[in-house]
Amino acid sequence: MQLKDQLISKIENRTACIGIVGLGYVGLPLALEFAKAGFKVIGYDVSERVVNGLMSGKSHIQDVSNEEVSRLVKAGKFEATADEARMQEMDAISVAVPTPLSKTRDPDMAFVIAASDAIGRNCRPGMVVILESTTYPGTTREMLQPKLEAAGLTVGEDVFVAFSPERVDPGNSVWNTKNTPKVVGGITPNCTEVATALYGSCLDTLVSVSSTETAELVKLLENTFRAVNIGLVNEMAIVCDKLGVNIWEVIDAAGTKPFGFMKFTPGPGIGGHCIPLDPHYLAWKMRTLNYKTRFIDLASEINSEMPAVVVRKVAQALNEERKAVNGSRVLVLGVAYKKDINDMRESPALDVIRLLELQGAQVRYHDPYVPKFREDGHEHSSVPLSDDELAKSDAVVIVTDHSSVDYQRVVHLARVVVDTRNATAKLAKGKGRIVSLASVGSYATA
Ligand SMILES: NC(=O)c1ccc[n+]([C@@H]2O[C@H](COP(=O)([O-])OP(=O)(O)OC[C@H]3O[C@@H](n4cnc5c(N)ncnc54)[C@H](O)[C@@H]3O)[C@@H](O)[C@H]2O)c1
Repeated sequence: MQLKDQLISKIENRTACIGIVGLGYVGLPLALEFAKAGFKVIGYDVSERVVNGLMSGKSHIQDVSNEEVSRLVKAGKFEATADEARMQEMDAISVAVPTPLSKTRDPDMAFVIAASDAIGRNCRPGMVVILESTTYPGTTREMLQPKLEAAGLTVGEDVFVAFSPERVDPGNSVWNTKNTPKVVGGITPNCTEVATALYGSCLDTLVSVSSTETAELVKLLENTFRAVNIGLVNEMAIVCDKLGVNIWEVIDAAGTKPFGFMKFTPGPGIGGHCIPLDPHYLAWKMRTLNYKTRFIDLASEINSEMPAVVVRKVAQALNEERKAVNGSRVLVLGVAYKKDINDMRESPALDVIRLLELQGAQVRYHDPYVPKFREDGHEHSSVPLSDDELAKSDAVVIVTDHSSVDYQRVVHLARVVVDTRNATAKLAKGKGRIVSLASVGSYATA
């Protein structure tokens, strides 16, 4: 039997040992999905803290419960390790390590290189290796494949290599790792076949494409599509503000068109590990080919201007109250990059806070999901959302609209509310002024 068929039958009869490299937001849920499908899973992570936490039954990822981790560890189905030599036991390896940007907004491939090197040192015939980290087209072929070939293996015959982008949406209660269709593209047709068999064993829907570059570009198209459309609607918010038109009313009405329109909403900027970063991987790759990706650059420019737009709104609102930003007490409500999660990566709240502080505001924040965070060497701690806190703030800025916050109480008690998310639209008026991101605020009377 060929190595390919042996590996596929090991996958089908659940005797294949599955390895996940990088146990973060992407890797951990995927590892547990395989474990729940009946495989023995070994997760490899360079962080001892992550490994020790998981082995003691503690999840560091919000969408994964402690109970689930502890149950699968106790059942011997899932094990975490920081020992790279354990890769030798793995029949399949999915790599989900970070792909950040450098200070100059170029791809930082250090984590992918380190993981590929470790795989190169520990690979053997009969393995399938799949890169899941979001990256520029060409990475799998140019960076991962050569490490396996350097170990004397022939890709497509002895070892199988593919790219399969992760589409996890943290905090989404409908679409998860299992039921979100997964795209797979191999270096050769054999590679695609093995990788598809692997994911097909525990995920509902597989979409195979003709190459690793196609699969890499699928992910970048998806996230560039979001970044560009968010940029467009953010610009529309600025347009509406200048015209004195309510952007939310425009979007809601446009959203009634049953075809040809997709609803995106404006906000204080974009955050998370994906939307602000991924399009720059494509922009960088295209720069190396002497092409400028203008949509990406423009969307990035508009989206990164949004925190300053929010701060101008705060200044304007305080001015109406005959107050300066300098010396005013401003409460930022919600600092995670999106609602109902605790992830602060690239959160626009960080820029909003920094810009307000630069102008002399005394900024405090409340976030039920983020008890504290460090930025620029300073530790910030969430303050309780007490009546006193709301009443004493000169302005409250809703940056992230977590569902558990009682916005009616906020509107009732705060003197000025700058609402960047339309969280207060349907509420009864309180005693203060509500200023929307994009429309003339209405003076509400109690
Ligand atoms: N978070 C998301 O919502 C999301 C969604 C889709 C795609 N992605 C992509 O998936 C990839 C992983 O993102 P994430 O959010 O899971 O990152 P993360 O930071 O949550 O987790 C990455 C893990 O990899 C570990 N790690 C770093 N270097 C390693 C190495 N050499 N070997 C083994 N482990 C190593 C880290 O310790 C960490 O635990 C990125 O490319 C990201 O763009 C993320």
